[in-house]
Amino acid sequence: ADGARVPALVIGTGYGGSVAALRLAQAGVDVQMIEMGMSWDTPGSDGKIFPKVTTPDYRSFWLRTRTKAPLSNFLGFPIDKDVPKYTGILDAEDFAGITVYQGRGVGGGSLVNGGMAVTPKRANFAAVLPSVNADEMYDTYYPRANAGLGVGMIDPAWFDTADCYQFSRVGRKHAQRSGFAWTFVPDVYDWDYMKQEAAGTATKSALAGEILYGNNHGKKSLVQTYLAQAKATGRVAISALHKVTSVSPAAGGGYTVTIDQINTTGDTVATKTVTADRVFFAAGSVGTSKLLVKLKATGALPNLNGEVGKGWGENGNVMCGRANHMWDPTGKLQSTIPCSGIDNWDAGGAFAEVAPLPTGIETYASFYLSITKNPNRAEFTWNAATGKAELSWQTAWKQPSISMAKTIFDKINSKEGTIYRTDLFGANKIWNDTLTYHPLGGAVLNKATDNYGRLHGYTGLYVIDGALIPGNASVNPFVTITALAERNIEKIIATDLP
Ligand code: FDA
Repeated sequence: ADGARVPALVIGTGYGGSVAALRLAQAGVDVQMIEMGMSWDTPGSDGKIFPKVTTPDYRSFWLRTRTKAPLSNFLGFPIDKDVPKYTGILDAEDFAGITVYQGRGVGGGSLVNGGMAVTPKRANFAAVLPSVNADEMYDTYYPRANAGLGVGMIDPAWFDTADCYQFSRVGRKHAQRSGFAWTFVPDVYDWDYMKQEAAGTATKSALAGEILYGNNHGKKSLVQTYLAQAKATGRVAISALHKVTSVSPAAGGGYTVTIDQINTTGDTVATKTVTADRVFFAAGSVGTSKLLVKLKATGALPNLNGEVGKGWGENGNVMCGRANHMWDPTGKLQSTIPCSGIDNWDAGGAFAEVAPLPTGIETYASFYLSITKNPNRAEFTWNAATGKAELSWQTAWKQPSISMAKTIFDKINSKEGTIYRTDLFGANKIWNDTLTYHPLGGAVLNKATDNYGRLHGYTGLYVIDGALIPGNASVNPFVTITALAERNIEKIIATDLP
């Protein structure tokens, strides 16, 4: 409520925010969570909370009047269409050189993502977070994160026969014939539920084209895991459709947090202030970075250091498709949940997930999202004239990612006698090099903050989300974001709370 005083305020309800809220509440601290997106607990006019990926509607995009699907074209036909402006679930946030996709709503990115829950190879961890004790991460915090998120693995025997994973089996065959390591990838989707979908005994979600704009069943988002546990403590309150716009030191100690309440067309309907003893920035890499550069530049938090806004990367994301021969159909039924990847990280700097194209028709296409070791890093800065944060990323900076992904797909194409698809991302465009699903960095651990996420310059301000990770996680990032949050909040509770 306006004018309230709270011991802990958490900005955002994604992975970092949910971990912080649960552990603080378990330690006896009352927590107020602020989330700019909706709570996604009420069915729409079709009786479902979330629409399918193939039929986007008003619920699909954050305050856009036209959809911006990651696959913009198919067989030459543009997919995007006009939709009413609404506080929908997926934000395609445009910066000068890149579109950053993010989840909006209670649960953050866990609402929209594919649920691929990957712990990085230990040998690669030092490059990701060099100041963090890897023994502690692999002995304690990665296992804690995997348990808390409900991570599981597909049954390999079922995989070998399920119609809905023919696309992955084709991906495996082609990877192995070219000599690449191929691996199953764990996921938070309930694999037993998916078996029931396939058997026709449960309402279909992964097998009914649900992904990107939410899953009505099967996927364990944070709402089913960390946030459910947090709510059960009775100490966590969540305000949805509330957006934090400022944080500054309060006269009597603590911080004054300014919050706009918005309606479903994005208009501000009320402005509130809350005083918080401690504030946790968990608005995601982009949300936290944008807030911090604004607060430093506008004088609300002038003592933040010069690392704020820096070290941002896109986890080397690049997408491509391959055109298979007629004897390698990928199946008209495709589970929306990826379950496998091609690992050429050490030799070529690329890890490619074999991704579905759940169109409902046979496409003879193999589709991949690669995570690559792209070394480029960008910076957020505050533009006082426009009143907006800008990101210095340039589209050309994806070139290393394309080269790294080609170490896999050029070889497979040459071995199989196949070619790249040129119709998926616009006319004659092989690579989707204009987006990321995995924004990371902007308030890097041990640079903008100390080694546990305490922001330099202010006691009681913390960063606890993907902004801490310096631009690349070597794999899909949310398990690492969760594990790092578990590590940091344990330390903060032990040493900073009275
Ligand atoms: P996250 O973005 O989850 O949460 C931040 C929250 O803060 C959001 O809910 C946002 O609305 C809110 N917020 C922002 N600014 C605010 C403000 N000023 N006031 C109030 N609230 C504010 N990763 C992975 O490991 N495996 C996968 O399979 C995938 N797949 C995937 C697919 C797609 C389509 C996307 C978009 C992303 C993925 N990801 C993924 C990435 C993963 O979802 C992402 O890394 C995490 O959600 C990031 O977690 P954070 O806690 O950093 O922020």
